[in-house]
Amino acid sequence: MKTYRLALIGFGTVGQGFSQILRDFGAQYEKDFGACFRITAVSDLQKGSLYDPQGLDPALLLRTVETTGSLESISAPHKGWDALKTIRESNADVVAELSFTDLKTGEPAISHFKAAIQTGKHVITTNKGPVALAYQELNSLACQHGVTIGVEGSVMSGTPSLRMGTEMLSAADITCIQGIVNGTTNYILSQMDAGAAYADALAEAQARGYAEADPTGDVEGFDAAGKVVILANLLMGTRLRMADVDRQGITGLTVEDIRQAKQKNERWKLIGRVEKTSAGVKASVKPHRLPESHPLAQVGGATNAITFTTTLLGDVTLIGPGAGRLATGYALVEDLLALHRISGE
Ligand code: HSE
Repeated sequence: MKTYRLALIGFGTVGQGFSQILRDFGAQYEKDFGACFRITAVSDLQKGSLYDPQGLDPALLLRTVETTGSLESISAPHKGWDALKTIRESNADVVAELSFTDLKTGEPAISHFKAAIQTGKHVITTNKGPVALAYQELNSLACQHGVTIGVEGSVMSGTPSLRMGTEMLSAADITCIQGIVNGTTNYILSQMDAGAAYADALAEAQARGYAEADPTGDVEGFDAAGKVVILANLLMGTRLRMADVDRQGITGLTVEDIRQAKQKNERWKLIGRVEKTSAGVKASVKPHRLPESHPLAQVGGATNAITFTTTLLGDVTLIGPGAGRLATGYALVEDLLALHRISGE
């Protein structure tokens, strides 16, 4: 049995979803994979910080946050450590970087990555900021320090879109990647198609844990643009920046636009796309009006879908959850199992 000690930086929707998975499936993973994933530290700006080198019980973490909104009432040998102290001084083998996404600066996540890597810790994340803005730099730093970074959940949550590209399709010559990569906007558009008002649909997407802390990132297309950049840079070998994506969100769509589309048996979808052309790589995020019979028009709610167009296989489409507590928490398990395959088995 190999044990992986984990420090969770952030204990919001994703950290809690991940803890729930460890609470419910941790023993099964020990049996099935010979890997024990043990949380030893949690540091959250609002909920407080705990560090117990022997381990923290995920069930207790969850119960306490659900009942009190904070971790403060749990006793632990060390409390109140900030994120950087937790990263540098805890005994974690792996840091799960789960702070809020900032697609302008990538901070504080980029600093968290660097501190973890420089102290010899692997990093896993579902945070799009550091992956969209600094993946190559962080990955080289990780290689220099002999550690790995896992970023599967930064696109399509636990639906394995990045590994599908980097591991399975990498030799098939991917020429275009396009699809629905933001769960919040797809949920809002689906609800509006069914008659809901924009504000109610957005509030529901927030309540379900799909939306970013600041949902402007979702509805204005920044979140989808970040994912397009990640897909292009990791799967097509480009060096795109956020500003290279021709971006438009869904805030310009009116109830009337949706009604008119419906009358013609069409649906609005926010489509992210990156394509290799003779003039270079072209990337965009834009609302498109698709016939109901189009495969992407049938993808509703927070579900995401990506079609990889390849020279050798033609189109390969992956459909699955793109946001949500357990779906995103599960992406961290995928990254941990990938690390276990290379280092532990
Ligand atoms: N806010 C994002 C979405 C979360 O709605 O898709 C997953 O990246």
